[in-house]
Amino acid sequence: MLRNLSFVRVQSRSLMPTLQFAKRTYATPTPEILEERDKKLTKLNEAVQRCMADKKTLEERSTKEVTIQRDFAIQKFAKDLLDTVDVLGMAKASIPAEFRTKVSIKEHTPDQIIDKISNLYTGMAMTEAELVKTLKRHGVEKVETEIGQKFDATKAQSVFNKEIPNQQPGTIFTVKKSGYALRGRLLRPAQVGVVAEKRTFASHVPTKTDGSKTTLCFSINDKVGALESCLAAIKAMDISMTRIESRPSRTADWDYDFFVDLNARDGVQVDKVVEGLRQHTTDVRVLGADGAQDSVPWFPRKMADLDTFAEKVLEMGEELSSEHPGANDPAYRERRADITRMAKAFRTGDPVPHVDYTPEENAAWGQVYRRLTQLYKTHACREHQYVFPLLEQNCGYSDKEIPQLETVSRFLKDCTGFQIRPVMGLLTSRDFLNAFAFRVFHSTQYIRHPSKPFYTPEPDVCHELLGHAPLFADPDFADFSQEIGLASLGASDEDIKKLATIFWFTAEFGVCRQGDELKAYGAGLLSSFGELEYSLSQIPEHRPFEPEKTAVTEYPITTFQPVYYVADSFKDAQEKVRDFASKMNRPFSVRYNALTQSIEVLDSKDKVVRFAKGIRDDMKTLTTVIESLSH
Ligand SMILES: [Fe+2]
Repeated sequence: MLRNLSFVRVQSRSLMPTLQFAKRTYATPTPEILEERDKKLTKLNEAVQRCMADKKTLEERSTKEVTIQRDFAIQKFAKDLLDTVDVLGMAKASIPAEFRTKVSIKEHTPDQIIDKISNLYTGMAMTEAELVKTLKRHGVEKVETEIGQKFDATKAQSVFNKEIPNQQPGTIFTVKKSGYALRGRLLRPAQVGVVAEKRTFASHVPTKTDGSKTTLCFSINDKVGALESCLAAIKAMDISMTRIESRPSRTADWDYDFFVDLNARDGVQVDKVVEGLRQHTTDVRVLGADGAQDSVPWFPRKMADLDTFAEKVLEMGEELSSEHPGANDPAYRERRADITRMAKAFRTGDPVPHVDYTPEENAAWGQVYRRLTQLYKTHACREHQYVFPLLEQNCGYSDKEIPQLETVSRFLKDCTGFQIRPVMGLLTSRDFLNAFAFRVFHSTQYIRHPSKPFYTPEPDVCHELLGHAPLFADPDFADFSQEIGLASLGASDEDIKKLATIFWFTAEFGVCRQGDELKAYGAGLLSSFGELEYSLSQIPEHRPFEPEKTAVTEYPITTFQPVYYVADSFKDAQEKVRDFASKMNRPFSVRYNALTQSIEVLDSKDKVVRFAKGIRDDMKTLTTVIESLSH
């Protein structure tokens, strides 16, 4: 009965005729009617119960199907890949058993070897083609990125920049890794090298642009699509980007700062880009532009500017040339990639990342260490011999394990103010030398391949820590190195080449006269026992160090040097380099301000007067000291 009244109440809110009908119908129910209703109600209850049971069954079945789909979704993809595995197996099988381990080349004819290599190549090419076909069947396609194409930041990632004569800045000159998209969505951008603009020091001076290259900085927060929107705003202006770099923001308001170099037609176009970017972020700044001063290449002004070198390497540490002993060792390459990743993330002010060297790596170091230290007593210059025991006492130098760069860097800083920055690969001569102006040395952290501990075709941690580091603790050598660094700031390409050659014949392969003997001070010699003995022998030619002549001497990079330049002392070499630098074609002078860790360009009367006042104060202090000593 209550059910019926409830029915009446609900209906009455909207439909009066039904109310009247309901009143009439249910006002006097007979027992027959009630019985009939109860029967219907029972049937309805049974139907509801069946529905509930069906729903439960459906839920269970759906859950099971989802599990099956999740576990076997890649079944078709995996099945397709089996063909690729088959082709790979055939490629492997094409190399006969006798070729699979190291064998003497004399046991086979050249034709046999070429034939097997050709089969292997064919097999590898088929494997690649099969794999690409499989990926394509499943919606994964290569993103077209070609050499000579304009760099597009929405499809590719610039892993390094390089100035290349006669090539259009902002275009791709090498593709290290291809990019891939899954049904149109970017899976991985291509990794490419981009032709760089010649950078100018004006790029860090706030100014209005009159065209050519402009550097913009904008800041964003870490949210999906934030960067894409900003890049799209730049792309909409049809301007090519030649560089894009990110770093964690220095302010708490933003997560990341992005630095972008643009090739803008004129200031109006730059203003439009800024306007477009401001639709997505309130923090947009024009840092500078090339203009009338484009004859002066860019150089770092502050210590933090060295951070821009972190990703601008000519070659990355994990990319090995074919003659490198680790070229075919994937585990070694992976290990180097791990170490260079840490170098890439390093920023000014950070401690140098700690590397847990493996027993195998420490063993390779130990072999090199024992062999070289036997020669140091007779072949190394006295400065190196003086510092080396200090490194053993203070920095853990021994044949047991590789010292940590951070420990050595702290020691050098206490001695001469020099410090070490980790680097992921080979820097340009300009960047490498520029850092010396700040008393900063870029050092690799990985070690040569353990199979050949006495050979490496490139700098490694043995070369850096045994060859370079000890000399940076010597005040005269530190001054000499910084002198080359200061001379390189804003120098022309031609002068950079000369300074790099001077560096090669001094800090890398330098010999000096001490008493009646020749001694080695170059890191390339002090980290190679073979060349260390050879360099001081009667076989090569020894010439006096004269920067004008040294700077234009050709040299081999893969064999022992036929000529070595002999310095009378580091102080003498420093004065000669300073004299050489003063004749270079550079319209300004620079000095390093150790208090602010920045470069001062002495290009105005005010700056020169301030500099002179500093010298006057120093002279006063010196005079006072001399007077007190003479009493
Ligand atoms: Fe070196």
